[in-house]
Amino acid sequence: MLAQLTSSVTDPSPAYAIEARGLTKAFGPVQAVACIDFEVSEGELFGFLGPNGAGKTTTINMLTGLARPDTGHVSIAGRDCLRDPKAAQGLMGIVPDESNLYPELTGLENLAFCGALYGMPKRAREARAKELVALFGLEEAGHRRFGGYSKGMKRRLTIAAGIVHDPPILFLDEPTTGIDVASARHIRRLIGRLNADGTTIFLTTHYIEEAERLCGRIAFIVKGKIVRTDSVEALLQRADNRHVVVLSVSGDTAAHSKAIGTAFPDLRVGRAREPGAVRIEAGVPVQVGPLIRLLEERGAEVFEARRARPSLEDVFVEITGIEGAALAQDRERPGSMR
Ligand SMILES: Nc1ncnc2c1ncn2[C@@H]1O[C@H](COP(=O)(O)OP(=O)(O)O)[C@@H](O)[C@H]1O
Ligand SMILES: [Mg+2]
Repeated sequence: MLAQLTSSVTDPSPAYAIEARGLTKAFGPVQAVACIDFEVSEGELFGFLGPNGAGKTTTINMLTGLARPDTGHVSIAGRDCLRDPKAAQGLMGIVPDESNLYPELTGLENLAFCGALYGMPKRAREARAKELVALFGLEEAGHRRFGGYSKGMKRRLTIAAGIVHDPPILFLDEPTTGIDVASARHIRRLIGRLNADGTTIFLTTHYIEEAERLCGRIAFIVKGKIVRTDSVEALLQRADNRHVVVLSVSGDTAAHSKAIGTAFPDLRVGRAREPGAVRIEAGVPVQVGPLIRLLEERGAEVFEARRARPSLEDVFVEITGIEGAALAQDRERPGSMR
C-alpha cells in the first residue's frame, strides 16, 4: 500500500491530452450539454459524432475556453483550463465551424497574422504561411483576398490558420460540412496525416462514414449526452453479430417496410441506402423466403436479396435509435469519402 502510494507520488501517471469532467451548459431552458465525461490520450484521433443540435459546438467551445461551463471542468495536458487558461490555450489549435479570418487580407497575410497572434517572429511566420498554403493546395490563391475564396478553400485556409503554431492538440468543429467533395477529401487526408505525425485531434462531425474512416475512438452524442464511447474497432465488432439483408423490390418501399415490420416484429426494418430497396436487420440470420412471399403477395417484384456488412451506421442507429439518414441528410454519395 505504502509502496503504491509512494510510486504514485514519484511517478504520476501521464495526464490525458484532453480530460472533460461533468461538463454542463444550458442556454435558458435548453440543456445544450448535460454532464459529459471523457478523456482523450495523447496521439488519439477522437471523434464526437452526433446530429445537428446535439451539443458538439457547445462542447468544443467549453474545451477550448471559448465558453464557460455552468459546471464541470476541463484539463488540457494536465493544465486546468479555468484556472490556467493561457497555459492550456498555448497547447491547442482551434478550427471553428465558421471561418474567423479576415476577408480583406490575402490567404498568406491571414496566416502570417495568426502567427503573429501566437508570438511567432516575422520571418518564421511568413515561412510557415508559405509552407501551409502549399500543404493545403492553396499556393496560387495565397496572394488573393480571402473574401473571394470558395467555401472549400476558405475551410482549408481556416484549418491552416488553426495549425500555424504547430499545436500538439487540435480541435476541429465539423471540418468537412457544407464544402465540395474534393476539398473534403483533401481535408480528411490532411487530418489523417497530422494525426499520424503525432497531433492529438478532437473532431466533431455528423458524418458517420467520416468518423468511421478517420477516428480511432468515437463518442456518440445525442441531446447533450454521451450515449456511448468506444473504439471504432470495438463498435464494429459489436455489429459483427448482426445480420443485415437488403432486398431490391418494386413499388412503395416505405409501405413494404411497414408491412414487413408488422408481420415480423422481431426484425428491424429500415430504409436502404439505395432507392428501391428495403433493409432488414436481426440478431440471427434473416430468413428471406417468408419476406419474399409477403412482398410478392403485396404485388411487388423482388429483384435481388443480398447480405450486407453491418456498418458503424447500424451500430449508431442501434445505440441511439436515430436513423443515420436523419443524422446526415446532406450526406455525400457513397464512395466519395475516399
Ligand atoms: N448561444 C446560444 N444560445 C441559445 N441556444 C444555443 C446557443 N448555442 C447553442 N444553443 C443550443 O444548444 C443546443 C446545442 O447546440 P450546438 O452545440 O451548436 O449543437 P451542434 O454543434 O451539435 O449542432 C442546440 O439546441 C442549440 O440550439
Ligand atoms: Mg455545431
